[in-house]
Amino acid sequence: MTQTPIRLTVNGRLHKVDAAPETALLYVLRNDLALNGPKFGCGLGECGACTVIIDGVAARSCVIPISGCVEREILTLEGLGSRENADPVQNAFIEEQAAQCGYCLNGMIMTTKALLMRNARPSESEVLEALRYNLCRCGAHIEILRAVMRAAGHPAEARD
Ligand code: FES
Repeated sequence: MTQTPIRLTVNGRLHKVDAAPETALLYVLRNDLALNGPKFGCGLGECGACTVIIDGVAARSCVIPISGCVEREILTLEGLGSRENADPVQNAFIEEQAAQCGYCLNGMIMTTKALLMRNARPSESEVLEALRYNLCRCGAHIEILRAVMRAAGHPAEARD
């Protein structure tokens, strides 16, 4: 039996995807749509590497079935900015050199973006709360926090 394609709106473009409704969004993004910004980390919704923004809210694409994404706006790292025209959050991470291996950065950046969409100037405690479940195995947390604070309008030189 053939199944009806599932319609997903990703980065402002409508896609028709031939996949089972229970397929995790992450697999469709990476394998069907070649959007490799979201990373596979734990696959259990615990590390944040796969984070995307759905209807303005940070979401873990490894545990969200595509059936739950129909008629919703999905934003991935690729939709945030480009090399030539980076998002301010991306620029803040570059300016603070906030990475070691970089595997967690998709989640850090997308979670930060979602935070700034609902709160343009969060305090440090609000930043820490928003990012508390995004894991970085390299231990680059200090640099990442500085980048997020810079993106939130609190550059390091103003805080030191
Ligand atoms: Fe989705 Fe870890 S890969 S939360």
